[in-house]
Amino acid sequence: MKINGNFLNLKDSYLFSTVAKKIKEFQSANPGVKVYRLGIGDVTLPLVPAVIEAMHKAVDEMGRKETFRGYGPEQGHDFLRDAIANYYADKKVKISSDEIFISDGAKSDLGNILDILDPSDKVLIPDPVYPAYVDTNIMAGRKIDTALGNQANSFKPMPDENYKADIIYICSPNNPTGSVYNYEELKAWVDYANRQKALIIFDCAYEAFVGDESLPTSIFQIEGARTCAIEFCSFSKTAGFTGTRCGYTVVPQELVFDGVKVNSLWNRRQCTKFNGVPYIVQRGAEAVFSKEGNRQIRENIAYYKENARIIHEALEKKGIWHIGGVNSPYIWLKCPDGMTSWEYFDHLLTKAHVVGTPGAGFGEMGEGYFRLTAFGDRETTQEAVKRILEFS
Ligand code: MLT
Repeated sequence: MKINGNFLNLKDSYLFSTVAKKIKEFQSANPGVKVYRLGIGDVTLPLVPAVIEAMHKAVDEMGRKETFRGYGPEQGHDFLRDAIANYYADKKVKISSDEIFISDGAKSDLGNILDILDPSDKVLIPDPVYPAYVDTNIMAGRKIDTALGNQANSFKPMPDENYKADIIYICSPNNPTGSVYNYEELKAWVDYANRQKALIIFDCAYEAFVGDESLPTSIFQIEGARTCAIEFCSFSKTAGFTGTRCGYTVVPQELVFDGVKVNSLWNRRQCTKFNGVPYIVQRGAEAVFSKEGNRQIRENIAYYKENARIIHEALEKKGIWHIGGVNSPYIWLKCPDGMTSWEYFDHLLTKAHVVGTPGAGFGEMGEGYFRLTAFGDRETTQEAVKRILEFS
């Protein structure tokens, strides 16, 4: 028996596991010291009442013989697929229910999709970026090239016609930088992908944070995307489902490579390897699209955006370069005094007892930068910001 040797090419530990380990070590060495966490982008507000009510109702259904449900469709229940299709219709994007696959979150499907793509495909991944894209491709032994983000391009790399890609990752609003591609910029990527016959893997897990109506929230708002893109979204950040687990993947019927319909291939993969998301969770997710549910989740998003504004204002006052935090829950800042990302992480943890995420964990171009999340509660955010100002 041989193990998959590609796994040996991974870094020892996943970014957020390393951060968690460092916090644990600090806490055991300093018992009783309160740590203010603005590290991993995990929500702190509870599920909204409309979601809880829908899930309670679904639990009751599961307890009665007449309404009990066993295995559901692998692709997700029609009630949720239809609700998502209507959500797209509200954005003037035509997506049919059979193009929507319910998942247990964007992260899983972003990795799973690689099952149906050839390991020899050339991958283009922005740097800095959500580390799961890189790791899942390393696991599959794929060659990775990077599209470099920096202050000059506002951390929004653009296509290079001289470079040939097969698979292109785009995350907008971006994790970790909070930057958002506009229509023209996304159109340039879509045109490039169609010319190159490449596939765009579009992660819009943070789309609900876009308040600026002039910015796109789905790749399918861009003409030509239906022949080159798959979109991954999640209820994690939109509706606080990080611990509840539900998301969706949109695979257009027009997406055809080597004469094969990607939608059919993905469906085949899902039927074999996935038994669907729990009925109770899907009923909760459906409630996110109800009038009341939508109003309630929008309130939570506004709360997090106010946290982002508080962080932004403080950094501005201190003259620390930063972006994001307006149409995104992440604020991306330059480490003060020329510190490296991990030096600043250690400095803030040990001196200010504040946790953020080192930019270097998102790629080489993230070195010297740092990410703060707006998903903390208000008190934590205010205290953390005070401490950051004091110790930066
Ligand atoms: C993050 O902090 O980048 C995210 O919470 C990670 C994730 O969504 O998996």
